[in-house]
Amino acid sequence: MTVVAVLGAGKIGELVLSGLLRAGWPAGKLLVTTRRSARGDELRERYGIRVVDNATAVAEAEVLAIAVKPQDADALLAEIGPKIPADKLIISLCAGLPTGFFAARLPEGTPVVRVMTNTPALVDEAMTAISAGPHATGEHLAVAEEMFKPLGATIRVPESQQDAVTALSGSGPAYFYLLVEAMIDAGILLGLPRQVAHELIVQTAIGSAVMLRDSGEHPVKLREAVTSPAGTTISAIRELENHGVRAALLAALEAARDRAREIAEQSS
Ligand SMILES: NC(=O)c1ccc[n+]([C@@H]2O[C@H](COP(=O)([O-])OP(=O)(O)OC[C@H]3O[C@@H](n4cnc5c(N)ncnc54)[C@H](OP(=O)(O)O)[C@@H]3O)[C@@H](O)[C@H]2O)c1
Repeated sequence: MTVVAVLGAGKIGELVLSGLLRAGWPAGKLLVTTRRSARGDELRERYGIRVVDNATAVAEAEVLAIAVKPQDADALLAEIGPKIPADKLIISLCAGLPTGFFAARLPEGTPVVRVMTNTPALVDEAMTAISAGPHATGEHLAVAEEMFKPLGATIRVPESQQDAVTALSGSGPAYFYLLVEAMIDAGILLGLPRQVAHELIVQTAIGSAVMLRDSGEHPVKLREAVTSPAGTTISAIRELENHGVRAALLAALEAARDRAREIAEQSS
């Protein structure tokens, strides 16, 4: 198995690391780097993996997964970029940063793959979108898939779609949590105890998600099956449409996509 180093093991880096370990990736084939030594100690204790400096990670690992904040990527690449042999595979987890950003700071010919995952990776239900950047071949994409498949589903997309992916599935869990939070509030408004409202909505969300995934039906069909003539559901749907929920989602995701573009521009 490939030796993978996670450079900048913060929240997302740890999420990848813990997923790889759950999937049976040998701890001996994983390295991490951190900026603060206390963070390194924490990870060493929690996972029994080696915490090294960036130069050692570059020397020993075949795959370098970069998980620093986009605004820290420039400094990291200034430190290690010129030392990276061109046969290492760079996997960027940095939201919004185009692969061209890395290519410009790495030796000519270094393969770069861009990955956008999401936080349900913590329960092995991530959605991870993988794009080939400069010099990345099918084999490089397959390595990225081998790393991210145990964390959930993966999909290959052209890099030009990554800002949209960031808006949809990268930020997506937050929209569902907001919806669930609002529905629990609605339950309280209707007089239900908070715990009961919480239980009702969380299980309804899980059941609906599993049906969406496993039935293969279009969401419109599934919604129609719960919407009887002159019934309760259609009364609620009329209010959702009156309040522009559909239009709000279109505008919200467009704003997230635009923000991803802005971050990329500010970082380059
Ligand atoms: N794909 C997704 O689902 C998704 C979701 C959110 C975020 N992201 C992306 O994932 C990246 C990380 O986000 P995060 O929320 O995990 O941030 P985070 O918790 O701040 O993690 C970044 C880590 O990198 C460390 N670091 C910074 N510079 C370093 C250097 N030169 N050498 C070694 N370590 C360094 C930081 O150390 P300190 O703690 O000492 O500062 C921090 O622990 C971002 O680029 C973000 O865009 C992706």
